[in-house]
Amino acid sequence: MTGKILVLAANGTVGRKVIDALVAKGESVKAATRKATPIAGTDAVAFEYHDSTSYGGALDGVDRMFVLTPGGHLDPVGLLTPIISAATARGIKIVLMTVIGVDADDSIPYRQVELLIEKTGAPFVILRPNWFSDNFQSYWIEGIRHGTIAVPAAEGKTSFIDARDIAESAAAALTSDAFNGRAFNLTGPEALSYGEAAAILSNAIGKSVTYTPVDDETFVGILTGAGAPENYARFLAAIFHPVREGWTAAPTGDVKTLTGHEPRSLETYARDNAAALAS
Ligand SMILES: NC(=O)c1ccc[n+]([C@@H]2O[C@H](COP(=O)([O-])OP(=O)(O)OC[C@H]3O[C@@H](n4cnc5c(N)ncnc54)[C@H](OP(=O)(O)O)[C@@H]3O)[C@@H](O)[C@H]2O)c1
Repeated sequence: MTGKILVLAANGTVGRKVIDALVAKGESVKAATRKATPIAGTDAVAFEYHDSTSYGGALDGVDRMFVLTPGGHLDPVGLLTPIISAATARGIKIVLMTVIGVDADDSIPYRQVELLIEKTGAPFVILRPNWFSDNFQSYWIEGIRHGTIAVPAAEGKTSFIDARDIAESAAAALTSDAFNGRAFNLTGPEALSYGEAAAILSNAIGKSVTYTPVDDETFVGILTGAGAPENYARFLAAIFHPVREGWTAAPTGDVKTLTGHEPRSLETYARDNAAALAS
């Protein structure tokens, strides 16, 4: 592997940390954002999923690519098929990030992207992370500021994963051929309810944070009231169904398989991000 690694969504929650992990390994990285935002240690490149004229410049000199659907997009098949086709036609290895559980049903759009890659014949690795610990400082930060996290999780548990562990798993998959052709379900080390997670966050930031279970309509109302588009709010509500069913609870050993280390706990995430969580 002598070419460069292209990281899409390079300035996002996971992409930025993938870059940190690759740069730390001494890899040559191209960082793709819409405005070619400069990111230290990388070649910044302008890339727009919806504009195929931006693909050539992004893919030049590249032999591996990290691909995901940025948050807010509801059509992963339409968004990712053109760039995956362009990359695999050049023989570029794809490390694709989807979502835990999507292999339950081949009609799920994220699963359809996985199947598309599997059919191309190009080398690939699929990473399916569980719910991010980092959501507490993005999606749920307003709730933390107001002292309660209100989501439709009931008492369902989740083995939350730190985005640093997703990124280090991706870096391992991008820099070794040992994992090619396989899919990995990435989780944190322990199953926690949102009530247990709120207690951990409270402890880390020194302020009371509780959990309020809500129904889907209340949740959609909270998100749209904060400015989220209704269709995306409804999508987020729908993906709490697997949480309530307990399907996001069980930890796996896949982060350790890829990185050689145990995944970080929510307590570690909260301690390392206490200032942002308390802001
Ligand atoms: N949050 C969770 O708990 C969770 C759990 C499992 C899986 N996932 C999956 O994780 C993915 C989201 O990952 P993330 O949070 O790391 O992404 P993210 O932070 O939303 O990604 C933002 C990045 O995407 C880029 N971007 C957005 N629209 C673009 C476009 N049209 N063309 C080119 N670049 C564009 C942005 O570029 P600019 O800098 O140009 O704006 C920015 O660099 C989703 O597929 C979600 O389903 C999330």
